[in-house]
Amino acid sequence: MTSSAQEMDYGTPARATAREVTLEIDGRSVTVAAGESVMRAAIEAGVQVPKLCATDSLEPFGSCRLCLVEIEGRKGYPASCTTPVEPGMKVRTHSPRLHQLRKGVMELYISDHPLDCLTCGANGNCELQDMAGATGLRNVRYGFDGANHLQDAKDESNPYFTYDPSKCIVCSRCVRACEETQGTFALTIDGRGFDSRVAAGQNEDFMDSECVSCGACVQACPTATLQEKSLIELGQPSHSVVTTCAYCGVGCGFKAEMKGSEVVRMVPWKDGKANDGHSCVKGRFAWGYATHPDRITRPMIRAKITDPWREVSWEEAIGHAASEFRRIQAKYGRDAVGGITSSRCTNEETYLVQKLIRAAFGNNNVDTCARVCHSPTGYGLGQTLGTSAGTQTFKSVEESDVIMVIGANPGAAHPVFASRMKKRLREGAKLIVIDPRQIDLVKSPHIRADFHLQLRPGTNVAVITAMAHVVVTEGLLADAYIAERCEDASFQAWKAFVARPENSPEATERVSGVPAELLRGAARLYATGSADGRRGERPVNAAIYYGLGVTEHAQGSTMVMGIANLAMATGNVGREGVGVNPLRGQNNVQGSCDMGSFPHELPGYRHIGDAAVRGRFEAAWGVALQAEPGLRIPNMFEAALDGSFMGLYCEGEDIVQSDPDTQHVAAALSAMECIVVQDIFLNETAKYAHVFLPGSSFLEKDGTFTNAERRISRVRQVMAPLGGYADWEVTQLLSNALGYPMNYRHPGEIMDEIAALTPTFAGVSYEKIDRLGSVQWPCNEGTDEGGTATMHIGGFVRGKGRFFVTQYVESDEKVTPRYPLLLTTGRILSQYNVGAQTRRTPNNRWHNEDRLEIHPVDAEDRGIVHDQWVAVRSRAGETVLRATITERIQPGVVYTTFHFPESGANVITTDSSDWATNCPEYKVTAVQVMPVSQPSRWQQEFQRFHAEQLGLLNAARAPQEAAAVMGK
Ligand code: SF4
Ligand code: SF4
Ligand code: SF4
Ligand code: FES
Repeated sequence: MTSSAQEMDYGTPARATAREVTLEIDGRSVTVAAGESVMRAAIEAGVQVPKLCATDSLEPFGSCRLCLVEIEGRKGYPASCTTPVEPGMKVRTHSPRLHQLRKGVMELYISDHPLDCLTCGANGNCELQDMAGATGLRNVRYGFDGANHLQDAKDESNPYFTYDPSKCIVCSRCVRACEETQGTFALTIDGRGFDSRVAAGQNEDFMDSECVSCGACVQACPTATLQEKSLIELGQPSHSVVTTCAYCGVGCGFKAEMKGSEVVRMVPWKDGKANDGHSCVKGRFAWGYATHPDRITRPMIRAKITDPWREVSWEEAIGHAASEFRRIQAKYGRDAVGGITSSRCTNEETYLVQKLIRAAFGNNNVDTCARVCHSPTGYGLGQTLGTSAGTQTFKSVEESDVIMVIGANPGAAHPVFASRMKKRLREGAKLIVIDPRQIDLVKSPHIRADFHLQLRPGTNVAVITAMAHVVVTEGLLADAYIAERCEDASFQAWKAFVARPENSPEATERVSGVPAELLRGAARLYATGSADGRRGERPVNAAIYYGLGVTEHAQGSTMVMGIANLAMATGNVGREGVGVNPLRGQNNVQGSCDMGSFPHELPGYRHIGDAAVRGRFEAAWGVALQAEPGLRIPNMFEAALDGSFMGLYCEGEDIVQSDPDTQHVAAALSAMECIVVQDIFLNETAKYAHVFLPGSSFLEKDGTFTNAERRISRVRQVMAPLGGYADWEVTQLLSNALGYPMNYRHPGEIMDEIAALTPTFAGVSYEKIDRLGSVQWPCNEGTDEGGTATMHIGGFVRGKGRFFVTQYVESDEKVTPRYPLLLTTGRILSQYNVGAQTRRTPNNRWHNEDRLEIHPVDAEDRGIVHDQWVAVRSRAGETVLRATITERIQPGVVYTTFHFPESGANVITTDSSDWATNCPEYKVTAVQVMPVSQPSRWQQEFQRFHAEQLGLLNAARAPQEAAAVMGK
């Protein structure tokens, strides 16, 4: 999907209503949705109306007066952007008088504008320039000698865009974009009349203001006032390719605007259904890592991790990897090797890796990084509702009356969805936040949570069960819904269980720290839409959104089931505005789970032990498959330390930095004989590798990602792979070298195979995705052409919804006199996961280290002052971070992020994990914190190892660089 044309701008937003209005525009009869503006009606009918302050992503404002029209029977010249259509209206958009008025307006704008069009970055793509042309403006009667803003200084503080006030026409589009689209309210129009100007924050630089660099204002600006620095540097793009962001699970659509094979800018795609033309700082601006000098583009091998790397040909690297895997299998047995797939890779790549493991390695030792994030979602929602995925589209939140956010921080981790959610909250939806920390959503511009249940880490299940207790004992159940759609026996057992006195808010308050009255109010609000539990006239739409603060616990699966129980008990699954919605951390967490990356499941969540399912794959793949599930990631580590698992193929995942108990992971990797890492940088895991296969970034390959809405979107190649091969091609080469043939010519053929073997994907094809923009699984004969937007309408996928008893069990990670605080972890907006990508961009300007948040009381007890270095010690290890003293965190709890390898956040996290899925309990670690003056022993060793490994890498690169210099 390549385009060079600009997208149509209809001036004002569409209105969602079935009611229609017919009017006449320039003598033509036009029928449009009621509530639309005259401007939109005209543009939809193909009549262009000049405009500057209007754009269809924002509500009309009516300030520029360029869009004036004549309406029969009305006095004056109303602005078409702010005038709604009416039946029978007769509109004239062009007349000599209108032309004269518009020209006068344009003259005023142009008389205060630097006429440097030929050298301006927006030349050829500027609405002011277009409007000057449209109004036929050639000369300016007022001259250019009067007062003007031409000398106003630029604000260059933001690393990605500039603000040049001399070009500003004060249309307020940026201000409104920051308010309406992004919800940050960072901009205002300061001053009056001629002196008015756009101001960030309290008249600060953009970087010093509340601006989160989402780019919405840049997108909205019709002139070159707010403009991408990359565009200024590289000039206007020549073509664009629609693709999907490779950061978080929102899955925003972008147009990669290109000049040759160089990205000029990433523009959020208006037709992207996950983002509707919005973006965040990561997807919009932080793509420079793709061509960072740290990229490794030549295959390398070495015998031992203390040896220098040696650059080799692809043939040699692949041949060596294959022979090592076969050698290990011959020596230690078939099951001594395995692989790890990544949620960062495409569906097609992930599918191929699991196929390679099952068909070429001949075992089921394949696991995915989703193990350590959302595996409890797969298990919990599969058990209760029948599908291991979220129930709604993101847009569904626009129909919600009550929004409950549990263990998630959407503003930091899912920013574009957060903006959509905040818009709904500003419109009046109620908000419940369940989180140990005061996330931004609790109190942000024009938003206050109705309830913030600030629970102790590790007590989610006690809280959700107590909420269910209130629903059951106060008569707030959706009886008819339950009778019609849920299993009676499991419901009765659950109802009796939650009604027990020990599950009441008063009884659980001591454990969770949540005041009983607050919890009762939140439960009533969720069930009825009112904090006093009184039901309104219509059923309330209550939606739950949750994140890793739910899943990454010893009772992660229990909590997911508790959430599903509560949603079913209140009738909140199976229509717009409700549902149970896991917010997926990485871009393709959903897809990596769907594609059969778990050791016990083939694609489509079908158990490997099911002979009929296995038989279909055996027939298609032409090999016999093992019926027994293989090793999970933690089992691989144990087996490595036992000497029975000696070879690993790891594609796109940095297990050393992202898995818990770093020292344990490092020991396990050190015990293996051959580790093959396929990645774009020498990550922490690659420092333990023997073969390095250059990976490709999302800009270098074709494929698909599946976001948290089950939406499958295309990733499209915009530049050739820097290493020569896309990731799917590398897996194919390895498979062929292992003697199991793979001969795909394009990832579209891989998707065809997935569709043929996976009933929920049966209707998915590249042709359809290209035609519709995206599709949502399930997508097959029984669904709409584009798949399924809302799940479980009319009945649950598993038949009757099943309730599960959710007995709260205290975590093994308890506070003790030795470890008196609980550490919990989270993310920050500007950095992403292990930071390998965002740390190699100017996003570091916002956040360049992981810090420890600690409450003032705990800090004072320990003599800790702001910014001081502190040791954080758990039973697994110790690391040293700088302290941030803040009341965002409650006493007794500390918090950090995990984006920088040298911080070693996972040196502290332990082997405690979810009972059902082994998802690590990252969110609860008992620790002690104390002031120190030097890095921990682990950090000192990390620095030494890091320097050593960089030296061994540079040894490989030096001859190549020398040759390049000689070649010049
Ligand atoms: S970049 Fe986003 S947050 Fe910053 S001022 Fe513009 S719209 Fe507001
Ligand atoms: S910066 Fe751009 S969008 Fe904002 S008021 Fe000025 S011209 Fe309009
Ligand atoms: S919200 Fe997520 S998918 Fe969208 S631009 Fe940001 S990181 Fe990318
Ligand atoms: S576009 Fe209508 S007043 Fe500016």
